[in-house]
Amino acid sequence: ESPHFPTEEKLQKICHLLDQEIHYFNWTGFYFRNGDKDELILGPYVGAETDHTVIPFGKGICGQVAVSGETFVVPDVHDQDNYLSCSIDTKAEIVVPIIKDGENIGQIDIDSHKLDPFTAEDREMLEWLCAEVAKIL
Ligand code: SME
Repeated sequence: ESPHFPTEEKLQKICHLLDQEIHYFNWTGFYFRNGDKDELILGPYVGAETDHTVIPFGKGICGQVAVSGETFVVPDVHDQDNYLSCSIDTKAEIVVPIIKDGENIGQIDIDSHKLDPFTAEDREMLEWLCAEVAKIL
């Protein structure tokens, strides 16, 4: 990796750019698999501090995507039983996996304060972004 712009900083920059660009992206962050443990750990993010710095596989929207390897769009978090609340302001969430060499190694997680805000274009853009991110990891 480049010594002047390390991967960690690139991921942080991506969070900042998404947060600035799309007004209904109100928490934007990365989670990554913790070695070979069945848990996610919080990576770079922009938004309110969260208690969920470690998420076991299967728990919450993030933990479910860690298992499924599929994008999970949640138009209304109140409809979800298996959900970990980070903020009472969050109404919707999208989680997109990062797949490298066929392996589910992490994800981008976006929370919104708006109900049902995510468009098909958002989803496509985030899936493209995660494919690009996989290349630098
Ligand atoms: N809501 C997520 C937890 C992570 S916070 O949104 C940052 C979930 O249910 O997995």
